[in-house]
Amino acid sequence: MVTVGIIGAGRIGKVHTESICNYVRNAKIKMVADPFMSEETEKWLKGMGVANTSKDYHEILNDPEIDAVLICSSTNTHSNISLEAIAAGKHVFCEKPIDHDLAKIKEVVKALEGSSIKYQVGFNRRFDHNFAAVKKAVVDGKIGETHIIKVTSRDPEPPSAEYAAVSGGMFLDMTIHDFDMVRFLAGCDAEEIYVQSAVLVDPAIGEAGDVDTAVITIKMENGAIAVIDNSRRAAYGYDQRAEVFGSKGMAATSNDTASSVVLSTQDGVTGEKPLYFFLERYMQSFATEVGCFIDAIENDTDTPLGVVDGLKPVLMGIAAKKSVEEHRPVKLSEIQY
Ligand SMILES: NC(=O)c1ccc[n+]([C@@H]2O[C@H](COP(=O)([O-])OP(=O)(O)OC[C@H]3O[C@@H](n4cnc5c(N)ncnc54)[C@H](O)[C@@H]3O)[C@@H](O)[C@H]2O)c1
Repeated sequence: MVTVGIIGAGRIGKVHTESICNYVRNAKIKMVADPFMSEETEKWLKGMGVANTSKDYHEILNDPEIDAVLICSSTNTHSNISLEAIAAGKHVFCEKPIDHDLAKIKEVVKALEGSSIKYQVGFNRRFDHNFAAVKKAVVDGKIGETHIIKVTSRDPEPPSAEYAAVSGGMFLDMTIHDFDMVRFLAGCDAEEIYVQSAVLVDPAIGEAGDVDTAVITIKMENGAIAVIDNSRRAAYGYDQRAEVFGSKGMAATSNDTASSVVLSTQDGVTGEKPLYFFLERYMQSFATEVGCFIDAIENDTDTPLGVVDGLKPVLMGIAAKKSVEEHRPVKLSEIQY
């Protein structure tokens, strides 16, 4: 049994709490810490069976009974808390992204060198049943040599302009998942990135210095070409699809829906809209990813997604931003790490 502490009790902290309490049989949560812990959250945690809460995550780091921490706090805290947790000898599951600052990520990479600490980054979509099945088809050789990868990733509603301003922008906050997906499906790194982007959803996002719509083309190191299309608002809900096309065939996913009912009437033939957003769409993947992290600790194996997998999509996000700023394809080798 692995004893864990959760740092940050916002949306994703609650998701991971729920996953561990309901689905991960070999882990138990000893404490959840959040400086803004509300009475309501505390009550909810007690209801989930979490006995201890704190406003100071150091209580988790200083507790010798706690083997591992899940860093679910705001993005700007991830790298520092990672460093403190590693120094305290805790295994770390860190939500994406580790940091937007490459120098801070480098510090985490260095801190892990030569240590036996397990470190996993929260790119949950790799564990989604649809995307994992596409990957399996590729690995099993069903597609042959990969030629084209397509990722469609559109949110049902845009974030506030204030959030857009502090989140690092669409590429480092939202597309970062798609950059990871492209690496995952290609089985290699990106070589060059070119972006066409626009502000078509909300002018306030543009005023905050961000974009809300983009098509990104990526040359992969294995020669394949990847395309990501992003929008901050799809009128029909959360659009999350991927396709790998190769010399022998193609593997493609469609969206998950609440049911597979297709309604046929004199007005037409309709199906359900995609599940609304990440909390509805990806719950299974969140539980599976945390289960894999706990298994890696118990069995002393590598985590499926280490610190370098956390770094690479940040490099891609920085290259994408540079492509927008300079209106040209940007090689990953141009990004100094
Ligand atoms: N993998 C995913 O799909 C996914 C989805 C959502 C969020 N995230 C990531 O998770 C992180 C949190 O996002 P969220 O949506 O839960 O945000 P949120 O604002 O709902 O929650 C963040 C929580 O962290 C707490 N916090 C801030 N500083 C802290 C500290 N020093 N110690 C402990 N807690 C602290 C805040 O009080 C807040 O309760 C972000 O980095 C985000 O990128 C990942």
